[in-house]
This record gives sequence, structure tokens and C-alpha cells, in this order.
Amino acid sequence: MKVVAFNGSPRKEGNTTSMVKLVCEELEKEGITTELIQLSGKKIQGCIACEKCFENKNQRCSVDNDVVNECIEKMLEAEGVILASPTYVTDVTAEMKALIDRCCLVSKANGDMFRRKVGAAVVVQRRGGAVRAFDTINHFFLIGQWVVPGSSYWNFAVGRNIGEAQGDEEGLRTMKILGENMAWLLKRIHGK
Ligand SMILES: Cc1cc2nc3c(=O)[nH]c(=O)nc-3n(C[C@H](O)[C@H](O)[C@H](O)COP(=O)(O)O)c2cc1C
Repeated sequence: MKVVAFNGSPRKEGNTTSMVKLVCEELEKEGITTELIQLSGKKIQGCIACEKCFENKNQRCSVDNDVVNECIEKMLEAEGVILASPTYVTDVTAEMKALIDRCCLVSKANGDMFRRKVGAAVVVQRRGGAVRAFDTINHFFLIGQWVVPGSSYWNFAVGRNIGEAQGDEEGLRTMKILGENMAWLLKRIHGK
């Protein structure tokens, strides 16, 4: 079983990465393979509303000159997906929003092709807006028939400079429990 995590932060070794790693550690303890893909530095553009995905119905975005189709393939191969982002102006980063918009349309064009995969959001904020970023990610999961595990708090941690989120004890606990619950859910839905 596999979970692929996408980090929408431009800082590859920042707070969001460290929170995702905590979730992945718990998954790995339960024998679930994890892979972290950084969107940072990769070309990714927003949806151009061509709606060719509804004509092609080939589980791909017709804009084929950036990283999105590779991301879609990774999502299709995995049983679980983590979408992670720092909070930027009270929402996800532009990179994460581009990924969400394009994956959402391709999924709709292909009969909710991610149906019943397990999806989890991971967010970091300095002070405000994480709930909205968390909602943005969960809107993508929930409209696409993904199954979403909970934790002991909404899945975000607090920190500004690199490393600071590691001092947020409740955030750390939230990520650990999220990893445990995601593993539990994956085994029940996708376990043999
Ligand atoms: C352009 C920009 C916008 C930001 N907007 C917010 C915000 O609205 N609310 C907030 O709490 N933090 C905001 N932050 C702070 C980041 O969310 C915070 O530094 C976070 O830890 C970065 O995660 P990273 O280390 O994974 O990149 C912003 C940072 C940047 C660069």
C-alpha cells in the first residue's frame, strides 16, 4: 500500500515538509510505503478551462507540458494522498491550488477516478488562515468521493521560520494521530 504526499511550499525543507514527514513516519510504522513530492521549483500552471479532459476522458490533463500529469499518475497508483501546503494569504499556495484545480477537473471528467482513495490535508500557518487552506484541500477530496480521516485537531501546525513548527506540540500530536488514523483507514478500505 502506498501514500504519496505533495508539498506545495516553495521551501523544500520548511515547516510543511517536516509536518508531512511526521504523518509519513506513522504510515511507515504500519507498513505503508510513502513518497514525498515537492512542487517547489517545478513548472505548474493553473487550469485553462479548455475542458478537453471531458472530451479525451483519458485520466490526463490536456495541458501536458508541466508536472500535473505526473502527479495525477502518482495519485492513481497510490491508495492514499496527502496534499500539504503552508498558508499563503489565508489559503493554499498558488502551486497547490493549480494542482487541485486541474486534478479536480480531470477527476470529474473521468467519473471521479480517485473515488474511495484516502486523502488528508496538512497545513502550516504563522498566525491565521490555516483553516481556510485546510478547507480548500478538503473541498477537493470531498467533491471527488475521497475518504478523509480526522485527527485530534484540524491538521495544521504553527510556525514561521524553518523549524519553528517543530515547537508546536499540539501540531505535532495532530500529525502523529492523523498518520495513525490514515493508516487505520487505509487498511480497512484497501487492506487485503
Ligand atoms: C507569501 C506568503 C504569505 C503568507 N501568508 C500567511 C497567512 O496568510 N497566514 C499565516 O499564518 N502565515 C502566512 N505566511 C507564513 C507561512 O505560512 C509560514 O511561514 C509557514 O511556516 C511556511 O511554511 P514552509 O516553511 O513549509 O514554507 C505567509 C508566507 C508567505 C511567504
